[in-house]
Amino acid sequence: PRVAVIVVAAGSGERLGAGGPKAFVGIDAHTILRHALVRVFSAPLAQVVIVAPAGHEGDALTDALEAAGDRRDLVSVVTGGKTRQGSVSNGLAAVWADVQIVLVHDAARALTPSAVFERVIDAIDRGSDGALPVLPVVDTIKRVADTEVLHAVDREELAAAQTPQGFRRDILDAAYRAADRDYTDDAALVGAAGHAVSVVTGDPLAFKITTPADLDRARSLVSAAPV
Ligand code: CTP
Ligand code: MG
Repeated sequence: PRVAVIVVAAGSGERLGAGGPKAFVGIDAHTILRHALVRVFSAPLAQVVIVAPAGHEGDALTDALEAAGDRRDLVSVVTGGKTRQGSVSNGLAAVWADVQIVLVHDAARALTPSAVFERVIDAIDRGSDGALPVLPVVDTIKRVADTEVLHAVDREELAAAQTPQGFRRDILDAAYRAADRDYTDDAALVGAAGHAVSVVTGDPLAFKITTPADLDRARSLVSAAPV
């Protein structure tokens, strides 16, 4: 199948607090976006759409062309929206007509190994409408109201969602057209449109760089992290 990946990189990175857009913060000599893209380009893809912060489209293109190597004709860059969902929507509008499967990936999950992309693509190839990588929840989770613990939630029923989340292209397009509010992620948006989304095994390296502590962790892992 023809697969496109939309890499959303248009957020401002408020919680990281680096003084500029998160995607262009360095992990080592290379940015968060460039690390994410090197791993994206190792997967079997037909198109990579990078959704960049307004005014940083050129910076995104520079990182993309470096990461792409001899696959630079796969690269498209578009400008992001106010919300992540808006950014994905802008990315979807740039997906080529012959693409059949679309994956949506957070640039902030910079160290996500390409094997995770392959698992998501495989699940859809085998007939799922959508697939997302998950990890088991390790902490004990409580339901609380105000200051009171109501009860523990059964961990067996819980999973932590990561990206890339992948979908049949026709289903993702229709679900975005039908979306009437902001959803927490693409799987929730597609689920709200009435489609079943299956799970595949995620990877601890697909953690999202959100806070300065996450960036420290990425910096300590990057030299040993697989592509
Ligand atoms: N994102 C985006 N467009 C937005 C908001 C977020 O493309 N309007 C992207 C981010 O660039 C990131 C991913 O969505 O790769 C996940 O978002 P998050 O980790 O929340 O990043 P930020 O929104 O940049 O961070 P913060 O919420 O701390 O400001
Ligand atoms: Mg955000």
